[in-house]
Amino acid sequence: MNENRINAFMDEAPVQEPERQYYYIEKAGRYLDKMCEAAGRPLTFCVTTFGCQMNARDSEKLTGILERIGYVEEPEEEKADFVIYNTCTVRENANQRVYGRLGQLGRIKKKNPHMMIALCGCMMQEPEVVEKLKKSYHFVDLIFGTHNIYKFAELLATRMESGRTVIDIWKDTDKIVEDLPSERKYPFKSGVNIMFGCNNFCSYCIVPYVRGRERSREPEAIIREIERLAADGVTEVMLLGQNVNSYGKTLEHPVTFAQLLRRIEKIDGIERIRFMTSHPKDLSDELIEVMAESEKICRHLHLPVQSGSTRILEKMNRRYTKEGYLDLVGRIKKAVPDISLTTDIIVGFPGETEEDFQETLDVVRKVRYDSAFTFIYSKRTGTPAAVMEDQVPDEIVKDRFNRLLSEVQEISAERCAVHTGTVQTALVESVNDHDESLVTGRLSNNLLVHFPGDASMIGKFFRVYLKECRGFYYIGTLQKE
Ligand code: SAH
Ligand code: SF4
Ligand code: F3S
Repeated sequence: MNENRINAFMDEAPVQEPERQYYYIEKAGRYLDKMCEAAGRPLTFCVTTFGCQMNARDSEKLTGILERIGYVEEPEEEKADFVIYNTCTVRENANQRVYGRLGQLGRIKKKNPHMMIALCGCMMQEPEVVEKLKKSYHFVDLIFGTHNIYKFAELLATRMESGRTVIDIWKDTDKIVEDLPSERKYPFKSGVNIMFGCNNFCSYCIVPYVRGRERSREPEAIIREIERLAADGVTEVMLLGQNVNSYGKTLEHPVTFAQLLRRIEKIDGIERIRFMTSHPKDLSDELIEVMAESEKICRHLHLPVQSGSTRILEKMNRRYTKEGYLDLVGRIKKAVPDISLTTDIIVGFPGETEEDFQETLDVVRKVRYDSAFTFIYSKRTGTPAAVMEDQVPDEIVKDRFNRLLSEVQEISAERCAVHTGTVQTALVESVNDHDESLVTGRLSNNLLVHFPGDASMIGKFFRVYLKECRGFYYIGTLQKE
């Protein structure tokens, strides 16, 4: 290490970000060196992600910071010296899973003197959760939330220095810190945050409370990141936000999501552009036009409907009607005939009657989704729906859920089968988990195809003949040009 760097390090931590975090990465690295010396081996980490793509992207940032500090990645949680849970709280069962697994981790920690445990993500933004952790889970070393994730290195260095549990949760922030390290899970594709938070306050949803107010990144920062990714071999980007259709509205110089897409489309090396999630109320004609014209935007749109009943949609505060949604779908299908449509549906929202549920089934039959994520309504404390009357009894919800699921599955199998016998372009993502002679590729419409190949094909595009549909994926063969 040269003199300058040592001197720089001896100084106070810089106030500016991201410089401040790079200083703490260095500092934590020094503590880690000592810890590795004491252990007589390199120390390892494992980040376990719950929840959505936003969390997955955040985990890549945590991984990037940990690798810079000098930790070595260990895929098996039970063997790692530093376990980080990046949590989700969108439904109650997500929380239960974390507590269950945390109990197990506590027992493992007793046997490993070098072990540390950190918890972060959406669940930590709930005060009751942090209280419970403080009371019953003393063995946790570090707790932080969604707003200060960029400070991970600083918080970790503080934990290493003090030897005490560090808890730091912020209520909200308007800060976006650019240019921190990040380590991609796949070399050839990457999520890119275009905005954070959510202002929609759907009445069942906890996300606006745990992720804070909506804020968009500057388009220049997004473009710069994607250009760098492209230079580093990335060909597919997934633009991430809770409501990408309202991107840019709050910027000093407002930019629409469609305009942003047009700029991203021009970046050399990027072949495929995906995005999620689209809120139906903000999906513009301009966006439909850009999708129809684009060579790079994938033929897939995730358009959560949540319910088919206008009465329930109103109680959900979704701000569209059944007819408005169906009309939107009609316009999209007309402009982009080969589009694959997917959705999210909640059953058992307070006050949902059999008639309301029939409206949901009706939308499913009319739209004919390529696939749908179906959820049982989960009561989230603090949301308006949690205190609504007429919570629907469990047995009724389960029955509706099963009926919805079988309808959705039947339609998606039929939708999948229509591509049989066509040749399509697949981006190979991995060697097949179950059969090493096959690789798994993703089509523009988000379907997967398994076909003969090997690891050398990962990250490359191939023309594939879709030989046989197996419900929700394909078996194919490589098409020789
Ligand atoms: N911002 C996205 C969704 C984020 S949460 C959007 O608006 O579409 C992902 C999905 O979880 C939601 O679409 C919804 O279907 C489901 N969800 C959210 N809160 C829920 C709750 N309290 N109970 C059950 N499902 C819920
Ligand atoms: Fe939740 Fe609605 Fe925001 Fe989606 S748009 S994150 S469902 S509040
Ligand atoms: Fe879950 Fe947070 Fe995403 S609550 S769904 S991880 S934004």
